[in-house]
Amino acid sequence: MGFSKELLKGKSIVVTGAGKGIGRACALMAAECGAHVIAVARTKSDLLSLKDDSSGDIEIWCEDVTQDAFLQRLKNLGQLHGLINNVGTNRVAKMTEQLDDDLDAVVDLNIKSLYRCAKAALAPMQKSGGSIVNMSSQMGFVGSPGRTLYCASKHGVEGLSKAMAVELATENIRVNTVAPTFVLTPMTEPMFANPEFKKFVFDMIPMQKLATTEDVANASIFLLSDLSAMVTGTSIKVDGGWTAR
Ligand SMILES: NC(=O)c1ccc[n+]([C@@H]2O[C@H](COP(=O)([O-])OP(=O)(O)OC[C@H]3O[C@@H](n4cnc5c(N)ncnc54)[C@H](OP(=O)(O)O)[C@@H]3O)[C@@H](O)[C@H]2O)c1
Repeated sequence: MGFSKELLKGKSIVVTGAGKGIGRACALMAAECGAHVIAVARTKSDLLSLKDDSSGDIEIWCEDVTQDAFLQRLKNLGQLHGLINNVGTNRVAKMTEQLDDDLDAVVDLNIKSLYRCAKAALAPMQKSGGSIVNMSSQMGFVGSPGRTLYCASKHGVEGLSKAMAVELATENIRVNTVAPTFVLTPMTEPMFANPEFKKFVFDMIPMQKLATTEDVANASIFLLSDLSAMVTGTSIKVDGGWTAR
């Protein structure tokens, strides 16, 4: 089961945070569907192993998405058909324990940096039109304990994605989000070491299972592809029903 190997043929796609977790699965699937994939992360060994794991067309960029050098490189691309704007972070703590540094770290990466990456992608995308997938979360729709900063940032991602979709619609640039529930990745593995937290999560998900990185990649690839040609300004929740309660 899977998409056609031709689904993204001829398309050039940038995936940020492609070394590990969700971004890695998205990069692998986009390459499997025939895209030329530019995989971005800071750790070279992750990117080299990503390339080894794929028989597709993956170009690796060892870059920090928060730096001007990366944004300029993105802007200078001759053409671009898709961006999975996936890099994000979390600082889990009660609001009373959150420091200003935590607030800055989450807002800087999850909103400001995501916004700047999307903005830099517009120049090469304007030539042919394209699709931007901003990686959100179920926490872009609900609140949850210890997650004031993360929820605020992901609600922000939802808002900016809708506004971008409206602003860019006539330029044939679509903008959507994918909003996963919990997925086991290097970001969340430490959280699941706590049995109480694990029980809380499984109790909250009607389907009583975590999402896989491939579940999230499936939704992202659909949004990048022409199968979703009339879909913009919305979100695909890959959350097993968490937000439906
Ligand atoms: N995991 C979940 O349960 C879950 C659920 C909902 C939404 N999400 C969202 O999905 C996205 C990915 O999450 P994940 O769990 O897959 O994360 P992850 O396991 O922490 O992987 C993040 C990837 O991004 C790269 N990265 C981090 N900062 C970077 C930077 N400044 N420049 C370039 N690359 C950078 C990391 O590599 P380097 O450190 O080597 O750069 C790594 O390859 C995030 O936006 C997250 O909020 C995750």
